[in-house]
Amino acid sequence: MSDNASAWWRNAVIYQVYPRSFADADGDGVGDLNGFRSRLPYLRDLGVDAVWFSPWYRSPMADGGYDVADHCDIDPTLGTLADAEALIQEAHAVGIKVIIDVVPNHASTDHPWFRTALAAGPGAPERDLFYFRPGLGEHGEIAPNTWVSPFAGTTWTRVPDGEWYLHLFDASQPDFNWRHPQVIEYFDDVLRFWFDRGVDGIRIDSAPLVDKDPNLPEVAAVEEHPYSDRDDAHIVYRRWRRVAEEYGGDRALIGEVWLYDPVRFANYLRPDEMHGAFNFEFLCSEWGAARLRKVIDETLAAHAEVGAAASWVLNNHDVTRVVSRFGRADTAFSVATRRHDTPVDVELGARRARAAIMLALALPGSVYLYQGEELGLTEVEDIPFELRTDPMFHRSNQVDPGRDGCRVPLPWSGDAPPFGFSAADAAPPWLPQPAAWKAYSVQAQTGDPESMLEFYRRMLRLRSASPSLGDGPMSWLPAAPDVLAFARGDDDFACVVNLGGEPVELPPHREVILASAPLAGERLPSDTTVWLRT
Ligand code: NOJ
Repeated sequence: MSDNASAWWRNAVIYQVYPRSFADADGDGVGDLNGFRSRLPYLRDLGVDAVWFSPWYRSPMADGGYDVADHCDIDPTLGTLADAEALIQEAHAVGIKVIIDVVPNHASTDHPWFRTALAAGPGAPERDLFYFRPGLGEHGEIAPNTWVSPFAGTTWTRVPDGEWYLHLFDASQPDFNWRHPQVIEYFDDVLRFWFDRGVDGIRIDSAPLVDKDPNLPEVAAVEEHPYSDRDDAHIVYRRWRRVAEEYGGDRALIGEVWLYDPVRFANYLRPDEMHGAFNFEFLCSEWGAARLRKVIDETLAAHAEVGAAASWVLNNHDVTRVVSRFGRADTAFSVATRRHDTPVDVELGARRARAAIMLALALPGSVYLYQGEELGLTEVEDIPFELRTDPMFHRSNQVDPGRDGCRVPLPWSGDAPPFGFSAADAAPPWLPQPAAWKAYSVQAQTGDPESMLEFYRRMLRLRSASPSLGDGPMSWLPAAPDVLAFARGDDDFACVVNLGGEPVELPPHREVILASAPLAGERLPSDTTVWLRT
């Protein structure tokens, strides 16, 4: 297996694109692939190594495209297969790799297999590709078990002939039966279809959920969890690794593995499985030195055990944007506690977000950015309820604000919506942009040395020019309890983060390379990170 020290995914800065919200070329108010292509120079100049696209396949978009109806075609609202092929080539031409999202756990109810299974009726072999079961109770009116969806509520829906089908997520997302050879072979073909088109990597959605106990027992009734992180899930990813290896060893598999046990997490990164996974412990961590130090140590130890490179993540399309998170009284993130109307100090959040990304970019491994984070966008929390699309919002009876607030179309230029996301005479953006985003647009920030965007550009340039950053060793330096300080590589690079309430003395150094906020002479202010030449 090739996971050599110089493999690109061990160091890369990877930028996540949520295609419906990046840039709209055809004027329907929804982002698309040609919009992305027109903005490729922006990403080249930002200095990212790769882009990861949230799903771009044919889909009814009941869960923003994570409900896939055809894994080998592009949704017409986003473009065509030819657009995707051109996009991959154009990205490669400017030195940017392309990662796409593959969703193995479930399909869309619009997938032809599900439609056929539905039509075929109870007992038909077509139903074995999914989990169809009779119900309990005298008339089968009770769902086969009481599993609770991460999207709140039941995981079962009854069809007109009386059977029920399993969907761990929304009712529009029926779970595949991964014990069926046809499912296994189908996904081999999906991977090859995209690798053949030059895709450099696959982001694997909800990776630990694919295998299920075929008896579908209640969660508490059995020792091994009936659907999450079962040992046999690894069979799938070993197989996928073999498919990736057919392409010469430079195609990456990156897992979405939300598991709290670092050892169970790292199992997915063994040398014959995935190449990387998102670091959700870092993303969910509060802004506090003790917790972050623990997360960093545990992350590095768990990855070292299996020879994989770590990743550092502050944002994605599922979580509250970091500027808002870090501007709150409780700076930790958890889906379970996300609520409306939580007060935010935006200035404080932005200050901490700057300090946090400098920390992430100095740590060993790869870094994932999410579109708009480089603009310092906040979570949009006042989207009218009737415009919200997220099943998490609707299925929780509107208790969970959902994820629309981090998916609002990007502001590129101009003084009023659509801020260059679409042409001025286009349909309005599919989610409304706040008027205050005038100050956050790419145009407004470009050339302003104090702006978040210019700060990101500078950091990324420095990181790629610094041989001691990215993958490689790090060592903690002595520091006060509220301070994180570490050295990188064999040379003289140090990163110091002050998470306490008071300024602290900088350690001895020859040069300040970059600071996330102005220094107070030789002191590092609160919520500030500095990179030093020591
Ligand atoms: C994880 C994805 O990141 C999320 O957006 C999606 O809703 C679920 N998986 C279901 O596919």
